[in-house]
Parts: sequence; C-alpha cells; structure tokens
Amino acid sequence: MKRTPVIAGNWKMNKTPAEAADLAVALARSLGGLTGVEVVLCPPFVSLPAVGAAVKSTRIALGAQNIHWEKSGAFTGEVSAPMLAGLCSHVIIGHSERRQYFGETDASVNKKVKAALASGLTPIICVGELPAEYEAEQTGVVVSWQMRGAYADLAAEEAARTVVAYEPVWAIGTGKAATGAGANAVIGLHIRGMLADLYGSALADGVRIQYGGSVTPANIAEFMSQPDIDGALVGGASLKAPDFEAIVQAVFKAKS
Ligand code: 13P
Repeated sequence: MKRTPVIAGNWKMNKTPAEAADLAVALARSLGGLTGVEVVLCPPFVSLPAVGAAVKSTRIALGAQNIHWEKSGAFTGEVSAPMLAGLCSHVIIGHSERRQYFGETDASVNKKVKAALASGLTPIICVGELPAEYEAEQTGVVVSWQMRGAYADLAAEEAARTVVAYEPVWAIGTGKAATGAGANAVIGLHIRGMLADLYGSALADGVRIQYGGSVTPANIAEFMSQPDIDGALVGGASLKAPDFEAIVQAVFKAKS
C-alpha cells in the first residue's frame, strides 16, 4: 500500500498573525506547488485566516491545534469543529502538551476526534509515552491504551479518515529524537497493529502515521526510510522556513 506522506508543522503558541503570514507566504512560494507530499500548517487559531489567505490556491493545507467537542454553547475560550470547518481541513487532537497542561484524557480525545470527523476535519491524533513510561519500558502498553481510547466507538469509515502522530514525550523539544527503527517498531506494532486489530489490516495499511519529536532536516531521512512512518509532525523546526522546506524536500525525495 503506497501512502501519501503527510508533513505537518505544529507552530504551537508562536507567532503573531503578521509573523505567521510572513512564514506562510515564504512556504507557499517554496512548497506551494509540491505534489505527492501533503503539507499541513497548524498555526494558532487567530492566525488561521492570515495563513489561509497566504496558502490559498497552493497545495498547502491548513490545520488547527485543538477543538472543543461540542458544537456551540457556554464554553468560554473554546472553539468548535463547525467553526473551523470553513477555515481549515485538519486539526491536531490530543497533543501531549494538551494532555499535560490542559487535562486532556483519552476520553476527551475520543470526543474531539468524533467532533472533528463529524465536521469533515481530518484529525491528527497524537499518542506517545512519557519519559518515565519509556524508562519503565511501558511504551507499548501506553500507546496501545491511548489508541484504544482515541478510536473508541469509531466506525471503520471514520477511522479511515484519521492520521496518527506518534510523539514520544521525551523526544519533544529536547533535541533527543527517537531512532528511526525505534519509532518504526512502536508505530508498526502498537499503532498500525492496533488499527489492524480494531479494523482489519486493509484499513490499517491505509492510515498515515507520522513521527514527531525533535525532527530536523538532519534526521528526517532516517524516519522516512522506515516502512511504517508516513511523515512527521514537526514543532520547532517548522517555525523556520529554511528548516521546514528542507524537511519537506527530504520527504519528497524519500518517497517519490
Ligand atoms: P519538536 O519538533 O519541537 O520536538 O516538537 C514536536 C511536537 O510536539 C510536534 O507536535
């Protein structure tokens, strides 16, 4: 099964709308025409319109970093999937920073995944173990549990429209990336393997699974050489146009 690689830039809580537009304009110029690789930019909510304008009429897609699971109501400070549906096509769900700082659980991740799919958004579902869990060799258990939680009661047709990002928490923002083989093993066994258990191997073979955690232009090729890794969710390096361009170009080279 040949899966189209998907590279997403998670800008996290960085850049004003004007700064975000500048970065998006630069990326639109260099990457806007690329085929065979899906590129998704995920700026903060307030920058979605500016970045959307910059990448309009290019092949670059736009994503948000979070949603609420309800459509509307008394949820001060929150943004719903229907509100985003006209602005972007993707949404990151269950990032470890949201789990760590904002109390997200597997149950809330599951509700958000369903809300995203109901509004036609592609969820990028994040899973990954904490440093202590990694030390205790609990990676498989933790990731399997997170996967089961995220996909609870999801129909096959819905599961087929998801993207997963394996982000070991010890690798995020630390400069200590996983090895390609290490990440591939977790993804193959516990992420694609879990999808195969839940939905069968034909469906599992079609779902794109990214690696995330200290991805750079120097290490992206190692990840892309792995059979079960279909792209990356990039944090820090996605904030600098030359670095993100180099990462995307390397993916293009690796998989075309
Ligand atoms: P870094 O690439 O900065 O390690 O961040 C990874 C990440 O959390 C992407 O969602």
